[in-house]
Amino acid sequence: MPATSPAHSQNTAAETTNLITVSRTSPREATSLCEELECGNILYFSEPPFLIPAEDREALLGQKQSSAAFHKNVAYRPAEDRVTGLDESDAAGAERLHAILRGYSQSAMKFLGELLTPYAGKWKLDYASFRPIEERGRVARLHARNDLPHVDAFPTRPTNGDRILRLFTNINPTQSRVWMTAPPFAAIAPYFAKSVGLPAAQWQGALSASLRKLARAVNWPGARRSPYDQFMHACHNAMKEDTAFQQSAAMQRWEFPPNATWMVLTDCVSHAVLEGQYALEQTFIISRAAMVRPELAPVAILERLAGHPLTGA
Ligand SMILES: [Fe+2]
Repeated sequence: MPATSPAHSQNTAAETTNLITVSRTSPREATSLCEELECGNILYFSEPPFLIPAEDREALLGQKQSSAAFHKNVAYRPAEDRVTGLDESDAAGAERLHAILRGYSQSAMKFLGELLTPYAGKWKLDYASFRPIEERGRVARLHARNDLPHVDAFPTRPTNGDRILRLFTNINPTQSRVWMTAPPFAAIAPYFAKSVGLPAAQWQGALSASLRKLARAVNWPGARRSPYDQFMHACHNAMKEDTAFQQSAAMQRWEFPPNATWMVLTDCVSHAVLEGQYALEQTFIISRAAMVRPELAPVAILERLAGHPLTGA
C-alpha cells in the first residue's frame, strides 16, 4: 500500500500532494477527478484500469537488459508509430516490444477519454515509454537524474502553456516503484521565479507574430518555445541544481506497489523516482483550454507573477 494514506483533498492548490484512490465501487464525477489532478493530487488505481495482457507483461519482464541498448528507456511515438531505444540486434523482440507499446498507448488513450471526459479529444497523444532500468543508483547526468525533485518540461516538445499529464503502471510483479514529491508548483513558483528570473513579455504585436511565423517556417532553434516553456525548462534544471531546496523542502514518500497505476500532472507536481524497475507510461499534452481550474495551471501562476502573457495563446 502507499506509504502515505489516501486522503481527499480540499480542492485547492496546496503545499502537499494527496493520493486519490479511484475505484469502480466508488465512482466520482469526471470533473471532480480533473480538479484533483489540477490541484496537484495523484489519481491512484490499485489495479490497471485497462487490460495489460499477461503475455505482454512476461515479454517486458523478459527484457533483462541484454545489451547496452537497454540502458535507456524505450520510447513509443504514436504519431509516427515508431519506437526508439530498442535493441536492434533482436528484430523479433523489437517487433514484439513495438506491438506491446502500441497496445498500451491505445488502451491508455481509450481509458483516459472515458474517465476524464472534460479532457477527451482536447489533447495531443505524446510518447509512451517502457522503463526497464532499476532507478535506485541509476547513473545519469545531473539534469537527467530522476531521483531529484523536479517539474517536467520537454525542451524539444514545448507545450505553450498546455499541461503534461502522465499515466504510469508498475508492471514489476514483486517490487514497488517509490516516488518522492516536493511542494507543488504553486508553492515553489515564487522561489524559483526569483532564482531563475521571470521572462519578459514577448511575442506581442503583429511584427513579433510575423517574425515568429518566419522562425517556425525555417525551423529556427527554439522558435517554438514560448517564454513559458523557457521558464519551465530553466525551472526543471534549477530544481535539480538546488541542493538547499532539496534538503529543506517538505518531501512526501509514495510507494506504488506491483500493478498500481497512477496519473499525475507532472508539470505542477514536483516529483522524483527513487526506486523501481519495469514501468509503463503514457504522456498526454492536455489543452490549457480544457482545464476545469485554469487558474491553477503553471502558466496562469507564472503569468500572475510576471504580470503579462507568457505564451502565444
Ligand atoms: Fe519527471
